[in-house]
Amino acid sequence: MDLEGKVAVVTGAGGGIGFALSKALIKAGAKGVAMADLQAEMVQKSALEIGGLAVPTDVTKEPAIHTLLDTAEMELGPVDLFISNAGISPKPIRDDNEHWQQQWSVHVMAHLYAARAAAPRMAARGGGKLVNVASAAGILMQMNSAVYTATKHAAVGLAEWLAVEWGPKNVGVSVVCPLRVETQMTANTPDSGTVRDGVMSADEAAATILEGIADDRFMIYTHPLAGGYWAKKASDPDRWIQGMTKLKQKLNPDEG
Ligand SMILES: NC(=O)c1ccc[n+]([C@@H]2O[C@H](COP(=O)([O-])OP(=O)(O)OC[C@H]3O[C@@H](n4cnc5c(N)ncnc54)[C@H](O)[C@@H]3O)[C@@H](O)[C@H]2O)c1
Repeated sequence: MDLEGKVAVVTGAGGGIGFALSKALIKAGAKGVAMADLQAEMVQKSALEIGGLAVPTDVTKEPAIHTLLDTAEMELGPVDLFISNAGISPKPIRDDNEHWQQQWSVHVMAHLYAARAAAPRMAARGGGKLVNVASAAGILMQMNSAVYTATKHAAVGLAEWLAVEWGPKNVGVSVVCPLRVETQMTANTPDSGTVRDGVMSADEAAATILEGIADDRFMIYTHPLAGGYWAKKASDPDRWIQGMTKLKQKLNPDEG
């Protein structure tokens, strides 16, 4: 997709990768960017800084996604690109059922709501693009969090399904699988085995993601070696589990 003159929605745009993506889209010549986030004050400040449109939104509420899209289209014009990027990872890590539900809502249902709302409108206008930010944890794992691993895997599976469903209707779908990026989410967070692969800035990550969108790739990595790890895992899952077990014991020796 050529980003010049396009109208985009980015969720989780108050900070981190979503903010960097919004900034990069505006720099790439997008006509307008609707920036959605749960943190109203933060997204208003961020949008003011780069000339985006702040739309405080809770992406776990389906009607709120429709309102977000309506607001973006009323203020900026028909939406060509919807980047579903909002995500959560608590510190310290939680494993209670309430948190499993919350991560399921943010990492999976929000992507489904965005597709339900935006894809039919895009298809009716001749095409568009959905981009779902998952994680390398969605093809590998986040060894410190079962819920992050499981919900990001579900996000990748959903994106694959959406790509097959909507591709023939000219709505492209991409899934983004970053390794570690320096944001609020990862600040002061223990290494989950990804630091050795390099920690990228949010601006660097946004630049690689926009390249993937411009090239219409389904699978977009920030760190290309994630794809190599995924191939190794697929070729020998037992060996991969053994390797991850050893790495986890090395990084968390106190866990026994
Ligand atoms: N930083 C990394 O290393 C990394 C790696 C892999 C994947 N990711 C994914 O990238 C995406 C962006 O993460 P980030 O690192 O920029 O984190 P971040 O914490 O800096 O930004 C996430 C944003 O999402 C917003 N958000 C959370 N719940 C929301 C909701 N219900 N409605 C609307 N907004 C909500 C937060 O307010 C926050 O501004 C997430 O999906 C994350 O899982 C990040």
